[in-house]
Amino acid sequence: MQPAKPTRSLGGALASVRALRGVSDVSPEVALVLGSGLGTFADTLTDKLCIPYTQITDMPRAAVVGHAGNLVLGRCGQRRVVAMQGRVHLYEGHTPEEVVFGVRLMLQLGARTLIITNAAGGIRDDLAAGTLMTIEDQLNLSGHNCLLGPNDETLGPRFPDMSEIYDRGLRALTHELAARLGQPCKQGVYAGMLGPNYETPAEIRMLRTLGADAVGMSTVLETIAARHMGARCLGISCITNQAAGLSTRPLSHDEVQDTARAAEAHFKRLLNAVIEELPSA
Ligand code: HPA
Repeated sequence: MQPAKPTRSLGGALASVRALRGVSDVSPEVALVLGSGLGTFADTLTDKLCIPYTQITDMPRAAVVGHAGNLVLGRCGQRRVVAMQGRVHLYEGHTPEEVVFGVRLMLQLGARTLIITNAAGGIRDDLAAGTLMTIEDQLNLSGHNCLLGPNDETLGPRFPDMSEIYDRGLRALTHELAARLGQPCKQGVYAGMLGPNYETPAEIRMLRTLGADAVGMSTVLETIAARHMGARCLGISCITNQAAGLSTRPLSHDEVQDTARAAEAHFKRLLNAVIEELPSA
């Protein structure tokens, strides 16, 4: 039998890890994916090293407005973190392996906890624009999977368990800290769609029936890749709009970005508190 061809994801990510270890001795504990409007969180890190994606072997470039393209290594309080300031999406034409490349890279640098953030449309009635929501569970409706093809046993098992994809303890901690900050957040199921068009009202009715509380165009593959590698995951959505058909206004990327920006200070405070209080992985 032919040996399985190394995937771009593993070969590329390992080469990039070796290169990054050459420029930084930081071994991060926590990996962050900063979604729309939240990228400036990385600017608040101390002892920062900012590496443009263009300087990382095989790292796909972030092209969407509102997504800078930097990997930032630094500290948040006592915690060593690595953050992706901007991500790539399937709808840009990237492959599933490219979409999860950054997450695999950060975990291969040593992080054991992934905190993933995004902007999402609110489907459940209490998820108004500006609300933060911890992701309780997800529906991968993107039609893609980053684990297709030969399995790399050094990354994780062929059939990884996804029964608690988002860590219960990290969700509880986030809710406790949000309440302490006087900014309680909600909890719900995130549906990951392919995009790039926003959903139709009929699709939103379908998603509600399927059990989705919020909808977006990212996150689901990144979390699958992270759980495959055994990382502990926390997902937080910033609800930037009511999903299609739930308000009379058409949806726009400008509205999504404006709401994400308005919630930014609040989101950063919560993220900061969570990272500082994280129990060791
Ligand atoms: N749908 C899909 N993705 C999104 C939305 C939405 O309503 N809002 C922000 N990202």
